[in-house]
Amino acid sequence: MKNIAVIGSGTMGNGIAHVFAQFGYQVALIDINQGALDKALATIGKNLDRQVSKGLLTEEDKAKALGNISTFTAVSDGVKAADLVVEAATENVDIKLNIFKELDQICPAHTILASNTSSISITKIGSVTGRPDKVIGMHFMNPVPVMKLIEVIRGYATSDEVTNQIMELSSNLQKVPVEVNDYPGFVANRILMPMINEAIYTLFEGVAGVEEIDTVMKLGMAHPMGPLQLADFIGLDVCLSILRVLHDGFGNPKYAPCPLLVNMVQAGYKGAKTGEGFYKYTPGSKDITVSTQFKK
Ligand SMILES: NC(=O)c1ccc[n+]([C@@H]2O[C@H](COP(=O)([O-])OP(=O)(O)OC[C@H]3O[C@@H](n4cnc5c(N)ncnc54)[C@H](O)[C@@H]3O)[C@@H](O)[C@H]2O)c1
Repeated sequence: MKNIAVIGSGTMGNGIAHVFAQFGYQVALIDINQGALDKALATIGKNLDRQVSKGLLTEEDKAKALGNISTFTAVSDGVKAADLVVEAATENVDIKLNIFKELDQICPAHTILASNTSSISITKIGSVTGRPDKVIGMHFMNPVPVMKLIEVIRGYATSDEVTNQIMELSSNLQKVPVEVNDYPGFVANRILMPMINEAIYTLFEGVAGVEEIDTVMKLGMAHPMGPLQLADFIGLDVCLSILRVLHDGFGNPKYAPCPLLVNMVQAGYKGAKTGEGFYKYTPGSKDITVSTQFKK
């Protein structure tokens, strides 16, 4: 595989494009929004600079990586020569199904179609194409250039050959791929989201405060970040939508989202990206304080 197309140049798409370009692949980065493409190139440049300043890359490596990336606003232009497409567009089932239907029509017959979805069924995505054996999940973690894991998700019809190719490719990016089957939340979010939801219930029921809950998990379980702060970073709306996928998919009440989480999302307190969730964030500053709603 040589030519990779990445669809969506937001938080995840720019990181995925960065990593492929760093390891010598030709990357077509595609987004319907030209502003998102400009922002992605600036972010990739900044993140490559950080790798250079840490001595992980040279200036020449950085220039080569940037030279490997071309940008497109039309999917049909960007995927023509792709051996692999990694879709990292907005987490919305209709958007993704439309993208995969289009990809199936316009990509060469050998092209593997991967999705970076956090929660949508790979089997369902594969079923709208005429090549479900070549549809697979490549769930990168945020921030992509730093995080080692790729959860590789086999849909019901994904072939052994395609799975093996993606496992090998992931290792070529110096990542650690882990193969999992396609059930709601896969492995990462099936385990992470109930923990976050339980932390929110613990706060909701008044067992302890925000900082106390996070401190117990940081110092007691050696987690680098407490679950409430992590939820703020992931986005409380994203956590809620993944919990709903687990709840619907398994039909088990243990995944029901905490009413406090539902209320916070409805009120627009979605975590770091909106400036406030369980904590309050000031743009440009690393200082965070407990949100006024949860101050004792
Ligand atoms: N943010 C995370 O921490 C994280 C982690 C793992 C997986 N994911 C998954 O990665 C995917 C992308 O998430 P994100 O956080 O980067 O989202 P984002 O909102 O930052 O970026 C999505 C981009 O997709 C573009 N887009 C939307 N529809 C498109 C289309 N039809 N064609 C081309 N581009 C289109 C948007 O313009 C936007 O720039 C989602 O499926 C998400 O669940 C996110």
